[in-house]
Amino acid sequence: MSATLLRGRTLSFRDMPGSHDDHASYLYEEDGAVAIKDGIIAASGSYDEVRAQFADAEVVDHRPHLVLPGFIDTHLHFPQAQVIGSFGTKLLDWLNTYTFVEEQKFADPEHCERMATHFFDNLLRNGTTTAVAYCSVHKASAEAFFSEAERRKLRMIGGKVMMDRNAPDALCDTPQSAYDDSKDLIERWHGKGRALYAISPRFAITSTPTQLEMAQALTAEYPECYMQTHLSENQAEIDLTLDLYQSARDYLDVYEMYGLLGDKSLFGHCLHLGGRERAAMAETGSVAVFCPTSNLFLGSGLFDEDGLRGHGVRTAIATDIGGGTSYSMLKTLDEAYKVLQLKNQVLNPLKSFCMMTLGNARALQLEDKIGTLEAGSEADLVVLDSHATPAMALRMETVRSLAEELFVLQTMADDRAIAGVYTAGRACHPELRS
Ligand code: GUN
Ligand code: ZN
Repeated sequence: MSATLLRGRTLSFRDMPGSHDDHASYLYEEDGAVAIKDGIIAASGSYDEVRAQFADAEVVDHRPHLVLPGFIDTHLHFPQAQVIGSFGTKLLDWLNTYTFVEEQKFADPEHCERMATHFFDNLLRNGTTTAVAYCSVHKASAEAFFSEAERRKLRMIGGKVMMDRNAPDALCDTPQSAYDDSKDLIERWHGKGRALYAISPRFAITSTPTQLEMAQALTAEYPECYMQTHLSENQAEIDLTLDLYQSARDYLDVYEMYGLLGDKSLFGHCLHLGGRERAAMAETGSVAVFCPTSNLFLGSGLFDEDGLRGHGVRTAIATDIGGGTSYSMLKTLDEAYKVLQLKNQVLNPLKSFCMMTLGNARALQLEDKIGTLEAGSEADLVVLDSHATPAMALRMETVRSLAEELFVLQTMADDRAIAGVYTAGRACHPELRS
């Protein structure tokens, strides 16, 4: 198969930018190109250089748009597409009033399939090409998630939630069935095509100690899988957790007692951690996942990015649909900027764009596969139009640098700015497929 060449203003990060003018941290080509062959990036660089290597290639001209690696979302809930924007509650009431009601519908495989189609359409429409998803407790929900991702050749990570208490009976598995179903799903899907599995005890409140032992057994048996759960999101949640696990020193210790910390462990939220918890996260390489739109929507708290990183904790960023309110990683970074303003921390736009690409790829230890435009990476790409709306076009008249342009995109753009999406080298935007 001959190569395809995408021409545009290419941007890819080499490292997390320290400041606005950390030009060494990224590669930007005003007239750049990405050559794609068999779903893989064969070369990237200046158009002239890449063109010289691939003289026969078909050229798709995306100028004057930006071409970046596809966005990566490290925490969201597949069964919550119809929970987004549910009014008036905080975490535990929100779960009981809305989420646990909606998730029961995923007992029906047809509902799972319909929702999977919408779920991936919405991700791609927003330029997100890899996501780490919680499915519902039902095995059928994970089957639908992975089958639809496979059909579209997407690099997706997911897992069925394990939950055996403090939820409606219809949403509870048992320690043994959670183990058996998760094991079956891992055997069936982990490493199949582009799929990867995340062992997913929902959170301490909805798992008995026996079920966390089962999660521990799975992580020991399948160390190549991810582990994802929720941690320290809301004060009422923390109080109930410590009541349920009275021997735990703190919330993180519940997971620590069951061997669930590690460099493939993703902990959603991490808003109210104490010093011991931060130190243990740092020591084990565990990842704290910042979910700004969710944290604001549920009134949960403000993420301490600088404090966590200062303690050596690895961090990532995510939408947390449907506590989160937008599938857009651009909107997510917009809200992250505002959260950090309230913490007197400044999120520079170069860092924002690195976070949703290379930064999240590193958090998942997938930077050799996704998150950059390096040759050898999988060809998952997003094309961004900085003039997508009249208000953006007007604002762009005064923009003088790449960092300023990225900040306008982050602050003003949404799915309307996604001018193209490629996964495994194929155009796959639900409306813009060529
Ligand atoms: N904690 C346990 N489950 C959930 C969930 O579905 N969403 C959020 N935001 N927090 C949780
Ligand atoms: Zn979540």
